Amino acid sequence: MPHPASGGPGAAVGEPRQVPRHVACVMDGNGRWAQQRSLPRTLGHRAAETTVIDVIEAARAAGVGWLSLFAFSTENWRRPDTEIAFLMHLVRQVVRKHAPLLHARGIRCRFLGMTDPRIPPELGRDIADLRTLTARNRGMTLTVAFDHGGRRDIVEAARSLMRSGVPAEDVTEEVFAAHLPMPDTPDVDLVIRTSGEQRISNFMLWQVAYAEWLFPPVLWPDFRAPDFLQCLHAYRQRERRFGAVPTNKNGATSP
Ligand code: IPE
Ligand code: IPE
Ligand code: MG
Repeated sequence: MPHPASGGPGAAVGEPRQVPRHVACVMDGNGRWAQQRSLPRTLGHRAAETTVIDVIEAARAAGVGWLSLFAFSTENWRRPDTEIAFLMHLVRQVVRKHAPLLHARGIRCRFLGMTDPRIPPELGRDIADLRTLTARNRGMTLTVAFDHGGRRDIVEAARSLMRSGVPAEDVTEEVFAAHLPMPDTPDVDLVIRTSGEQRISNFMLWQVAYAEWLFPPVLWPDFRAPDFLQCLHAYRQRERRFGAVPTNKNGATSP
């Protein structure tokens, strides 16, 4: 049997879906991109905008149903105030500028996280407007993880469960997952972390339990649609087992 976290109907042991249902990107390397050019780190973040739009378009065109982008972690509040302020301003600009395009492409947009009181209220309003504008779209769901922490989401689910009064013996993985923020989010099939760093950095911890991982060395501002398509190709070469034994061509397990 496929693990329940196999990416939904159609994903069988040993046979990844042709196109991953849910791709999640850790958009890393903006600072190094700028430093390599003797520019301030903030210009690396600005250069990332082109990549974001390119990857959204590539994912949508390839038939990816769910795309999640890690834009700001709960740990990123440790960065200098000027860099944080720049990022808040940049995200607001990007949201306002690209909202019509995202809507025209049929993309449903929402932001995961966004609970810290330091988030400027005007950014919160623009994001709420984008969510409302695109709420009925069915083309692809874009989740931007912003002020996101995987552990925080798990703690939130535990709090919500306790408040709901579910008896401990009734708490299953499915019941628990239903209390996570954005519980309709399917398990992640493929994580792409650019810049060569090989760690999870507290990203969607529950949902990446059985994801395939790719670590392209390219820095996020240099990552483009062909790099994304190459990642989808590499995913297709993976054999997903979910703890079971490999299957042969006819779908039978070896004796
Ligand atoms: C990722 O790029 C963007 C954010 C975390 C906001 P970095 O800013 O982490 O870039 P590097 O890792 O310093 O190169
Ligand atoms: C993870 O990148 C967060 C985002 C890409 C938004 P970081 O660059 O902040 O992570 P660490 O510090 O290398 O783990
Ligand atoms: Mg980084």
